[in-house]
Amino acid sequence: MTSLAKDGTPASPLVEVKDLKVHFPIKKGVIFDKVIGHVKAVDGVDLSIPRGRTYGLVGESGCGKSTLGRALLQLTPPTGGSVEFDGQELTKLAPGKLRSMRRRMQMIFQDPLSSLDPRQNVESILIEGLAAHGIGADRGERRKKVAETLDAVGLPRWALSRYPHEFSGGQRQRIGIARALVLGPDLIVADEPVSALDVSIQAQVINLLEELQDQLNLTYLVIAHDLAVVRHISDVVGVMYLGALVEEAPSDDIYAAPLHPYTRALMSAVPVPDPDVEDQRERILLAGDLPSPANPPKGCRFHTRCPWAQPTRCADERPVLRQITVEGLETGSDHRVACHWAEDIATGKLRPHEVKAELVHQEAETPTEVAPPSEPTSII
Ligand SMILES: Nc1ncnc2c1ncn2[C@@H]1O[C@H](COP(=O)(O)OP(=O)(O)O)[C@@H](O)[C@H]1O
Ligand code: SF4
Ligand SMILES: [Mg+2]
Repeated sequence: MTSLAKDGTPASPLVEVKDLKVHFPIKKGVIFDKVIGHVKAVDGVDLSIPRGRTYGLVGESGCGKSTLGRALLQLTPPTGGSVEFDGQELTKLAPGKLRSMRRRMQMIFQDPLSSLDPRQNVESILIEGLAAHGIGADRGERRKKVAETLDAVGLPRWALSRYPHEFSGGQRQRIGIARALVLGPDLIVADEPVSALDVSIQAQVINLLEELQDQLNLTYLVIAHDLAVVRHISDVVGVMYLGALVEEAPSDDIYAAPLHPYTRALMSAVPVPDPDVEDQRERILLAGDLPSPANPPKGCRFHTRCPWAQPTRCADERPVLRQITVEGLETGSDHRVACHWAEDIATGKLRPHEVKAELVHQEAETPTEVAPPSEPTSII
């Protein structure tokens, strides 16, 4: 990817993820001790985030975005692959070292109310993290830092003595941002940070994240199921489908020339404000539901729903992310797509066809017990 920092100098990667895998065991039996399969929530992801930049990760619900974000921070132990943060391999770090490293890698959650302890006022929510990491010599110093952070996220000082339920959704997300920010992190993973907010408030929170990034040179991984949300904030966008990236490109390029059929389908679902363009724009409706990550389709994982799927290769050969060259279409070396037929789709040589929704084959013995996804209330 183009690794220029905002000031034009080359930006070194802060985060390098290679072949990351998270497979959750599916257990069965009265005492749940027999592993009968795996949910391949993340199944071989490579990505790199330069310092001070934003990587936007999009894909429909259940495709593995949150698991990827959590595995990156080692909140969910990866099954395989590596995560390098500022040159240090996190998957091999001793627990004590990882704990102190956590100060530098924070997370913002979708639902601020469920991730903030309702019994703690804002001041104690923010001071808790500082105390846990031994930041600030005494309570006075910590209170000063908390007050500064409150200013930075645009909350009034009186908020300190109030409880999460006393705030609006947007204000609560500002508290969530303050809780991450107060520790002075380098990286923030924001998992659907505005999905629970009214559209009018979403832009305010996104703008706040952008301002904070400019002031503090923060690096972001912003996760969303909605392409419109990540468009303006992201330098690079990665599109995920069933545990893997299917396309990755600088933000403007992916919106100008989406190459993967799945990206095109996602994009076609975003309404355009201009009514004439809106009337004429291509709409691709995807047939069927997202297949189960416990039993993903062979070959290209998207072939069961792909309107461009071909009789050869699609059902038996898994495509890798690659750069393509198409005459008349400018695609930079940092625009990569995982589709066997991307060139012919881009030139229009291949046309979309109708796809019949298939029933996704389930194992005869349906697994009964999968540990429910858990969201920590705090990652200090
Ligand atoms: N702790 C867990 N145990 C078992 N399966 C899980 C766990 N967390 C997530 N999953 C499964 O992994 C898949 C990806 O989930 P998730 O990462 O939450 O997707 P997304 O954030 O894109 O909606 C889903 O099928 C989900 O049910
Ligand atoms: S490889 Fe085949 S099934 Fe997969 S996206 Fe490309 S055309 Fe569709
Ligand atoms: Mg999620």
